[in-house]
Order: sequence, then structure tokens, then C-alpha cells
Amino acid sequence: MTHEVVPQTMGQQFGRRSWAEPWKIKMVEPIRMTSRPERERAIREAGYNTFLLRSDDVYIDLLTDSGTSAMSDRQWAGLMLGDEAYAGSRNFYRLEETIQRYYGYKHLVPTHQGRGAEHLISQALIKPGDVIPGNMYFTTTRQHQELAGGTFVDVIIAEAHDPADPHPFKGNVDLDKLEAVIKRVGADKIPYISLAGTVNMAGGQPVSMANVRALRALCDRYGIAVYLDATRMAENAFFIQEREEGYADLPIAAIVREFCSYTDGAWMSAKKDSLVNIGGWLAVNDDEVFDTARNLVVVYEGLHTYGGLAGRDMEAMAIGTEESMQDDHMRSRIGQVRYLGELLTDWDIPIVQPVGGHAIFLDAKRIYAHIPQNQFPAQMLAAQLYLDSGIRSMERGVVSAGRDPATGDHRYPSLELVRLTIPRRVYTQAHMDVTAESVKAVYDAREQTRGLTMVYEPKYLRFFQARFEPIA
Ligand code: F0G
Repeated sequence: MTHEVVPQTMGQQFGRRSWAEPWKIKMVEPIRMTSRPERERAIREAGYNTFLLRSDDVYIDLLTDSGTSAMSDRQWAGLMLGDEAYAGSRNFYRLEETIQRYYGYKHLVPTHQGRGAEHLISQALIKPGDVIPGNMYFTTTRQHQELAGGTFVDVIIAEAHDPADPHPFKGNVDLDKLEAVIKRVGADKIPYISLAGTVNMAGGQPVSMANVRALRALCDRYGIAVYLDATRMAENAFFIQEREEGYADLPIAAIVREFCSYTDGAWMSAKKDSLVNIGGWLAVNDDEVFDTARNLVVVYEGLHTYGGLAGRDMEAMAIGTEESMQDDHMRSRIGQVRYLGELLTDWDIPIVQPVGGHAIFLDAKRIYAHIPQNQFPAQMLAAQLYLDSGIRSMERGVVSAGRDPATGDHRYPSLELVRLTIPRRVYTQAHMDVTAESVKAVYDAREQTRGLTMVYEPKYLRFFQARFEPIA
């Protein structure tokens, strides 16, 4: 790190007060730095797709915050309390009570992870020909909506599509846009609104309480349900506490409860907010929807009191849910993401602003302005970052957006991003410094970098398994 940057970023002036993590480290996991020739071979063998790298070849793994967090000593101890009964495990009842307490929904169906719950809610509510409006697509969410015969329609505010726009709640639903969709297709064609708390693909951007309240009122007028993707809802609550009038003195837990009270149910990837390596759930208020989902879960996941999980996983998830709602935890979690964001901002590297909850998103469109979108600039940027330092990130641009099922053409999202996703409670501030310095090195070499061509493309969720070659 250069010395001009240190005083500004780290506030080293006299009298500074830093935040620190509300935990100390009890166990460590060694990681290994590879050589440049090793990385060149590894990325070639992986078809320039960071999803296809072996984690042994990765130094700092910022691919995702999903299932990669460190569990607490309490959670590890909880694993020993696993009741591995096929039916009626004690850990299920503990989890059910915890989700009811923190999220406020009436019924719980556990699933192995988020997409298991997305599958259930999509199959339970969507009929062929239906339309599901939402605040920007998420890959697996939309895939399940489409497989159930629905069409996703984006109704997020326009600011979300502009990486530089400083709007404090870029995850908000544009209610005029939504009402126009309702009038165009008819309320009977809309089984529910697909609302996400912090919008992953927009850069981890929050939804305001005022927006969800107004959304509820609008949907009540038309008799439409609102279902929430609660995957990073605790992070969303932090931004409400920080930015929305009237919430500064309320704890994260109370804000989550109020937000959820405006929705009819939620699906959850507990691998994010809830600090576990595996797990998810669907929670709903409606008795009939619950009945359908509880019946479907035994076909696809497992009995309705374990949903594809071991008893011990449900115990760790219940404890992780409680830990995720603690204000000092959330302050340090988002504080670390911001620390990385501030370093990059100080160095004038284009990233999505404002910095969101779970990741820094590099703006590949601006970094590689000379690479057209059909040559996958973000895919190449992720590969270059790996080549430079062994840091693994993820493309969130044209590859992730996939093809339009009607036309078969690439969908060209306005956001062409690389996500540096920060696992919870795993890396230190020094890892963030190393990451920022590597991004800077790749940024400085941007003009010499060319694009990619796709040489293998799977049918579903192509970004996970597609292969690429550099354009000569
Ligand atoms: N919803 C959101 C907002 C997500 O970010 C994810 C997963 C899911 C649903 C699906 O959950 O993975 O447990 O099946 N996101 C991961 C990511 C994969 O890297 O952002 P899952």
C-alpha cells in the first residue's frame, strides 16, 4: 500500500477510533500462494472460468459469500447436539422457533439450500404463462420461475442499472413500473412479487422500509402476494438502520421483523446471512401455500422436518441465525467490505457505488472499455485477477445473464461486473489490502488485455460451467 493512501483510508490522524471484529480467532486454515506459471496452467485448464478452478489453486477465495463463512465455537458445539432422527428431529423445532422469532412467519419448511426453497415456492405458486415482477433477477431464482412456466419482469428503479448512481436504496422497486406491468398483464397473471432484500446482481443494494411498505399497499390494492428472498435481509436491515429516518435506534433484529411483516413469506439461502456452510428454508404465512410446499418438499428434498439437511445442520443454522442479527457482527461484516471499497475508490478504480452489503463489484465495462460485451470483459477481468495473485472472483455480467428463452440471444445486462465477495468472519484486513493491490495491478495493465470467446456453453445457468479461450 502506498503511503499517500494510508492516512485517508485508515484514519491514522490523531484521535482516530477504529472498529474491530467482535471475535478472536481460535483455529486457522492454512492457504497457499501459487506461482504465476501454476496459475497460468490452472486458469487454462479451467477454461478461463473461475468456477472451474480447484480451490487448492486459489489463494484468497472471493468467489462467493455462500457457504464460505466461518462458524462460531457455539455453532460447532451445536453440531454435537444433532438429533439425527428421520422424523421430528429436536433441531427442526429449535430452527422453526428461531425463524418464527426472527423473521416472524408462521410456517417453516427446511431445504438443503436456497434454490431448493426457490423450487418449492415456484412450483407451488406459478402457472405456465404467469409473470413474476421483481427487483432485478437473480440467476437461480429466475431459472426456477422460468422452469415453472413463468416470465420474470424487472421492476427495480432505474438507478440500480447505473453503477455510479449514489442512490442510498438502489434495490427499491419502481412502483410505477410495477403498476404498469400489473395493468398490462392483469393481476390474475401475477402470482407474487419476487422481492430481494439487498439485491445481489445490483451490487448488494438495499431496499428501504418505506419502499416495502408502499409495495405492500400497492399489492393489497390488487390482491397480489409479496414473497421475499431473505438471503441477505439482515444486511439489508443494517442499511435501513444507517440510512433511513427513524431506524437509527432500532436493532437489526427489529428492522428485519418489521420488513418481513410486509411480506407473505420468504425463501432463504442460509449459506449467506445465517453463517452456515449448508442450509436454507421456505417460510410462509398462508396455510394452503404451506400445505403445498410441505408436500412438495418430501418429493424433492426430504421429509418436512429435515428438508435435505442433517439435524446438526439445522442446529448450526438456528444458532447462526441468532448471531447474524447481532448489531456488532453486522457492523464489522459490512465494515470490512467497505474497507476494501474505500481503498479501491481512493485509487479511482471503477466499482459499483455505493458499496453494498456482501461484496465489491468491479465495473468491467469501464475498466475494459475497449472490450465489447460479447467478448466477455468481466469474465476476462476475473481471470486476470486470478492470474495476477491467485484471488478468485466471479463474473456477474453477460455470461451470468444467459440467453433469452424466447429469442435465444445473449441477454446484455447494463451491469457488466466482477464480484469480489467477502465471506463472513474468514479474512483479515491484510487480506483486503492484498486484494486491493492486486486489483490495482490488473487495472494498470488494462490496455494490454483482450477479450474471450466462449467455446462451451451449457443449457442452464451457463456461468457455472461455460468454457472460454482468449482472443489472440
Ligand atoms: N438468492 C440469492 C439472492 C442468492 O444470492 C442465492 C445464491 C440464492 C438465492 C440461491 O441460494 O445458493 O443456497 O441455492 N447465491 C450464491 C452467490 C450462489 O454466490 O451469490 P443457494
